[in-house]
Parts: sequence; C-alpha cells; structure tokens
Amino acid sequence: CVKEPLKVMISGAPASGKGTQCELIVQKFGLVHISTGDLLREEVSSGTEIGNKAKEFMNSGSLVPDEIVIAMVAGRLSREDAKKNGWLLDGFPRTFAQAQSLDKLNVKPDIFLLLDVPEEILIERCVGRRLDPVTGKIYHVKSYPPESDEVKARLVMRPDDTEEKVKARLQIYKQNSEAIISAYSDVMIKIDANRPKEMVFEETHTLLSQINLNRMIKTGK
Ligand code: AP5
Repeated sequence: CVKEPLKVMISGAPASGKGTQCELIVQKFGLVHISTGDLLREEVSSGTEIGNKAKEFMNSGSLVPDEIVIAMVAGRLSREDAKKNGWLLDGFPRTFAQAQSLDKLNVKPDIFLLLDVPEEILIERCVGRRLDPVTGKIYHVKSYPPESDEVKARLVMRPDDTEEKVKARLQIYKQNSEAIISAYSDVMIKIDANRPKEMVFEETHTLLSQINLNRMIKTGK
C-alpha cells in the first residue's frame, strides 16, 4: 500500500509550543520536521553567509528578510525525504509574502494547526525555556525540567528569550497572524494549547490520524 505522505503546518505565537508538539508528532508520524527557527539557528552557529545575515534580526526578535527564509524552505521542501515521508512545517509561513511564495510553488498543507495560548502565559514560557544543545530537546525550568543533572548542566537559553525581546516577537506575530490564518482558513484547526503538552498532543494525534484514516477509506487501502 502506497500511503500519501502527510503535509502539516503548525503555527502559533512564540512559545505556544510548536517545537514541543513537533518533537511528539515526528516520533509518531515520521514526518520531516522543517523548522525555520532551527534551520536559521544552525546557520548562525555554523557562521554561514545566511547565518551572518540572519543573526542580528533574530537576536533582536525581528523577522529575517523573506527572500532568505523563502529560499531556505523551498530548498528543504524539494528534498526527497520530505516528498517521500511528508513534512511538518514549523514557523513558516510567517508573513503574507511567505504564504504567497508557497502558493506559487503549489505547496498546500492537509492541515494547518494553530496553537492558541493566552498572551500572559507566553512570556513566562519563553523566559523559562531551556534547550539541550546535544539532543535539541526543549525544556522548561518549571513545567518540563530536565531528567538528570548531566542534562541540566548543559542546557542553554536562547538569546531572544528575554522578556523585552519576547514582547517584540509577540507584537510582530500579532501583526502578521491574521493574513496567514486567512490564507489557510479552509484547513485551519485551532487547538487550545494552554494545557499539558500530552493533552495537546492527544488532540493533534487524533487530527492527523483522522486524515490518514480518511485517505485509507477513500483509496480502499
Ligand atoms: P522560532 O524558533 O520559530 O521562534 P518562535 O516562533 O518565536 O517560536 P518558539 O520557538 O519561541 O516557540 P515554540 O512555539 O516552538 O515553543 P516551544 O515548544 O519551544 O523563530 C525564531 C526567530 O527566527 C524569529 O524571531 C525570526 O527572527 C526567525 N525566523 C524563524 N522563522 C522565520 C520566518 N518564517 N520568517 C522570518 N524570520 C523567521 O515551547 C516554549 C516553552 O514552553 C518551552 O520551555 C516548553 O517546554 C514550554 N511548553 C511547551 N508546551 C507547553 C505546554 N503545553 N504547557 C506548558 N509549557 C509548555
């Protein structure tokens, strides 16, 4: 049986839990996770030309220019693994121009997951976030502390996770979100993401499984 790969977009304000849900979705569905934030942070830490251009924008909490991010995502989506296994696009599109660029490439998601969290919660989530540079796992000092002292000792904070920068990022998100959401309103599902990550995942899991199931019924496979 040849299964049509899933194409998923995940969106939401800074710290709404996109990266956290993506870890769980990838484990279960084997999709290729394409996070523009992660890709850009890799470029910055390797000191590439893209990284050097992106660094200042990211550190101040602003968006990286569209042309840089669009080229990066288009390149990643066209690779064989994404075509074969399906993809999970995280943090893109973030502007109307980015959504238009995908439309031109005829890239459309099966589902657009919008993680909804009240604003006052988001700041605390960002300020308490810690990342494991070895595994890439996302933690929180209070809600999701590391499982060992060894991991704890190596956790790092993102330079754009200070209260001031989070507020700037939130502002930018609010300016762009309506245009993005309206571009995908036909496949958009809003999820209450102000619940423990396992509960949020239960809902995303059901939604994605349903798409797979409907396809099997349609094709009789
Ligand atoms: P990016 O890395 O995409 O940042 P973001 O959208 O601001 O989202 P975050 O990574 O901050 O949060 P998240 O939703 O993934 O939350 P997480 O799961 O980590 O982008 C960074 C920068 O790159 C941008 O500012 C921009 O400069 C640039 N960039 C990226 N894409 C771009 C684009 N398309 N165009 C232009 N520029 C672009 O969770 C957050 C915290 O909350 C963690 O501590 C976690 O443990 C905790 N948490 C998660 N879920 C829960 C839960 N259910 N309950 C309690 N705590 C939870």
